[in-house]
Amino acid sequence: VIAVLVSLGIGYFCGNFLSGFLLGKRAHVDLRKEGSGNIGTTNALRILGPRAALITLILDVLKSMIAVAVIHLIYGGNPLYAKELIHVLALLAAFGAVMGHDYPIYMRFQGGKGAATSLGLILACFPQTFPLIAIVFFAAVIKTRFVSLGSMLAAFIFFVQVLVLGSTGHLMFYQNQLSWAYLVSGLVLLFILIRHRSNIKRLLAGEENPISLHKKE
Ligand code: G3P
Repeated sequence: VIAVLVSLGIGYFCGNFLSGFLLGKRAHVDLRKEGSGNIGTTNALRILGPRAALITLILDVLKSMIAVAVIHLIYGGNPLYAKELIHVLALLAAFGAVMGHDYPIYMRFQGGKGAATSLGLILACFPQTFPLIAIVFFAAVIKTRFVSLGSMLAAFIFFVQVLVLGSTGHLMFYQNQLSWAYLVSGLVLLFILIRHRSNIKRLLAGEENPISLHKKE
């Protein structure tokens, strides 16, 4: 239980580093008050331009991957912790990072939408699901120019793949730990949807903000 809480805590701490918000601050812009009001890559692209968006994306993806790396560093060499248990702890740390990003303590729990940080979790813990996720995401974004729709469809196809790969024994989790993989991937999808509520409303009303590669003047 302690290891579970420590892992979630380490992840949550990593997730609190809100790169988009900090980059905005450097440019004297509060991303929470511009565009969609989000502090993620998409809104950084809208308001700050492609360079800042790329840095935001990389740092937000890295947060959950760093949390995973820290878990391997802490528990990796410890004979008390079996390899399969470490995979679960790493997964929880990555999920903690998503929660830290979505509900950061120093922003009164009003953070981002967790798409990039969830991508870091996927790359670190379920890398085999990435190709199809990338295809679905880019197809949706290129077709509609709505990143939110791409993010939600990507999260859905991620969850479906985890269920299929898990039931056919193709995940890096052992049989008795598969329920953790299902639970966390389901939560990833759930929180992506919860955090995209305003986008869902805008999509349904036909008022969603598209992206373009040009910074807003
Ligand atoms: O990463 C968040 C993205 O899916 C939507 O962002 O700014 O259009 O609400 P935004």
